[in-house]
Amino acid sequence: MDVLHDFYSDTQTRPTRAMREAMLDAPVGDERHEACPTTNALNARVAEMLGMEAALFLPSGTMCNEIAIAVHTRPGDEVICTRESHIIFAESGGPAALSGVMMHPVDGARGMLTPAQVEAAVRPASAHAPRSRLLVCEQTANLAGGAVWPLAELNAVAETARAAGLATHLDGARLLNAQVATGIPAAEFARGFDSAWIAFTKGLGCPVGAVLAGSSEFIADAWLIKRRWGGAMRQTGVLAAMCLYALDHHVARLADDHALARDIARRIAELPQIAGVLPVQTNIVIADLSDAAPDGRTARAQLAEKGVTVTVVGHRRLRMVTHLDVGPANAAALVSALAELG
Ligand SMILES: Cc1ncc(COP(=O)(O)O)c(C=O)c1O
Repeated sequence: MDVLHDFYSDTQTRPTRAMREAMLDAPVGDERHEACPTTNALNARVAEMLGMEAALFLPSGTMCNEIAIAVHTRPGDEVICTRESHIIFAESGGPAALSGVMMHPVDGARGMLTPAQVEAAVRPASAHAPRSRLLVCEQTANLAGGAVWPLAELNAVAETARAAGLATHLDGARLLNAQVATGIPAAEFARGFDSAWIAFTKGLGCPVGAVLAGSSEFIADAWLIKRRWGGAMRQTGVLAAMCLYALDHHVARLADDHALARDIARRIAELPQIAGVLPVQTNIVIADLSDAAPDGRTARAQLAEKGVTVTVVGHRRLRMVTHLDVGPANAAALVSALAELG
């Protein structure tokens, strides 16, 4: 059956007509030589939004994370992050394959670490141990149900890492969701970090793009790796034009996605098929199936027969994400399909 109600991810949006039109008159040049005016304008805008000196347009968020890890570390170093981090579960082993680093996963509560946990994870300097070198945090925490790190806690964790001599990197795939949910500017969340990025292909609805920001020195190093890994492009102004359009038109409306996610969570919490729903702060709903429902994979298949897509993120755990291309009618279809699981 065709997908009619796509809650699989906020990456499933199609570019709007207005977004496609924004490409038409965009001035373009060779991005590889930093000569694309629209891409340069996007980089400058994101650097400012994140309170950083410079920024770099990249095809994907994965490339932002992987380049940042490569710049901040040397082979054999250790990266501290939560066990549920995207860099661990969904980047195809990139940190090991591309940077030769070890991961030091820590069990965070709702995708968040405490300063004490970071302190405990940092290894004392020793010729026998890997060098603790980098802390990576996710804002919002994807597998924790789009949970928002409170600003004070995020700052405290970053400060602890820096005091121990670590570099800090913020995975901001959904940082703007955190900004909209809290009213706190993205730059405030990024303040304790040496590098941070935002995605354009999640809630902002673009087909391509993420921008990585940091100090001028960090971005110079990031450029080198981007070119080395084949990430340098040409007339990216057409893509950057869509991203600029999204910054102007698709940020405030993330509040609609959040309201829809809260509404879905409230309604499905009452279903016998649902044992519990994680608290919803942004656009991600994570629900555990009760004994009245089949396991996650079977549930996903039953939902797909009704044109509803979701992600299985645990044996009996489903993830549903709201975005530009789903509204109240799709939410109603999702709720009824879940109510018919059996
Ligand atoms: C938290 C998080 N980080 C990184 C990424 C990677 O972004 P991309 O899909 O653009 O590579 C994602 C993608 O969903 C994500 O959810």
